[in-house]
Amino acid sequence: MRPTTIHTGAWRYPGALPDANFNFAHLKRFAQTLERAKFDAFFMADHLAVLNMPLDALKHSHTVTSFEPFTLLSALAMVTEHLGLVATGSTTFDAPYHVARRFASLDHLSAGRAGWNIVTTSNPDAALNFGMTDHMEHGERYRRAREFYDVVTGLWDSWADDAFIRDAESGLYFDPEKLHVLDHKGKYLSVRGPLNIARPIQGWPVIVQAGASDSGRQLAAETAEAVFTAQSGIAAGREFYADVKARMEKARRARDHMKIMPACFVVVGDTVEEARAKRARLDSLVHYDSAIASLSIALGHDASRFDPDRPLPEKIPESNASKSGRQRAIELAQQEKLTVRQLAQRLGGYSGLAMVGTRATIADEMEEWLSSEACDGFIIMFPYLPGGLDDFVEQVVPELQRRGLFRREYEGKTLRENLGLPRPANRFFETRKASA
Ligand SMILES: Cc1cc2nc3c(=O)[nH]c(=O)nc-3n(C[C@H](O)[C@H](O)[C@H](O)COP(=O)(O)O)c2cc1C
Repeated sequence: MRPTTIHTGAWRYPGALPDANFNFAHLKRFAQTLERAKFDAFFMADHLAVLNMPLDALKHSHTVTSFEPFTLLSALAMVTEHLGLVATGSTTFDAPYHVARRFASLDHLSAGRAGWNIVTTSNPDAALNFGMTDHMEHGERYRRAREFYDVVTGLWDSWADDAFIRDAESGLYFDPEKLHVLDHKGKYLSVRGPLNIARPIQGWPVIVQAGASDSGRQLAAETAEAVFTAQSGIAAGREFYADVKARMEKARRARDHMKIMPACFVVVGDTVEEARAKRARLDSLVHYDSAIASLSIALGHDASRFDPDRPLPEKIPESNASKSGRQRAIELAQQEKLTVRQLAQRLGGYSGLAMVGTRATIADEMEEWLSSEACDGFIIMFPYLPGGLDDFVEQVVPELQRRGLFRREYEGKTLRENLGLPRPANRFFETRKASA
């Protein structure tokens, strides 16, 4: 949800709520709508800095600012009962003791609905907000993340599930035999423990990963129970799925204990033409200055000199920017015969996986992904709010339910139970059986 839509033109769409990212009444309504539709979770991303884009691009966007995730999710925990609450927590800019206690607290407050999206933080500007001048090197970030995960999960296991006896008669509040002091001293981190919070309701909040590089995939295979991905096509989705599940097996984990979910932007219409028109209208609301800055970033070349109403020039000088991002932009323009303006507005809005059509065509596409080992579920991104959310919930969810692809009722009480994930054993103590 981010906490509102990712599309930078969304706040200008007719009927949109431009202040929704700081208006709790609206956010509460979105969360409750998601829960009525039996969504697994509300996911709140976090980047620890405003996005690293030129101000000319940023100044037109509502996505530039948002609530701090734990404060928002704690409030949402009080107005929902089943909806999972997943937040990003950085392994580069945070301390494991802080992270362990925040997620443990959220898990207790929400009666077992918390999830931790482990990121190494992709935005280099975050370093400047934490007393550093440079972003830590990528490989180093992931090595630290692996150790960080061990420490956080170790801290969650500080107390046996039955450590707190609370025997008023004898005066014994907890059994000291059921307390473990982690005493971690590693390459990057030094944490004594124990955590000053009882073991989370879920044992551990659900572990989520969103890395895509080789190190990201490997960390996911070893640790993640849900993986958020950003593939834009089904072939790339299948490649990622096969690769990460195979790595999981090598790490001696059951394939089923990880759910892979691509981020998917969904625009619903009564006809395919209507859905496309909605998207075109939405994209046209991305301010041109912001759109052209996004295109320049993708191409690694100043696009503001191109004629906005003609196709992309044939020859664009090579640059040191992302080669795959540049190629994707050029292919998109060719495939959909977009002018420079339209391409820029598409990139400035959302250029990843999108399903734009009717309830039936969207359900068909999702079914194809789900039935061909391309994913286990989706991170749904709504084009604009509240309309895009209401359309999805009223039209696509019933169609998915009718096809047996989506639940009609929550399976359990905790996020783990709803996702079909086991409750992890406490590595230091015997635990009661998973989701008994
Ligand atoms: C759905 C999704 C959500 C993400 N959320 C965050 C986030 O909240 N904070 C962040 O710093 N990075 C976020 N990322 C970026 C990833 O953590 C990761 O840095 C990126 O996918 C590149 O992979 P790599 O770091 O393995 O190269 C997200 C990625 C995806 C696909």
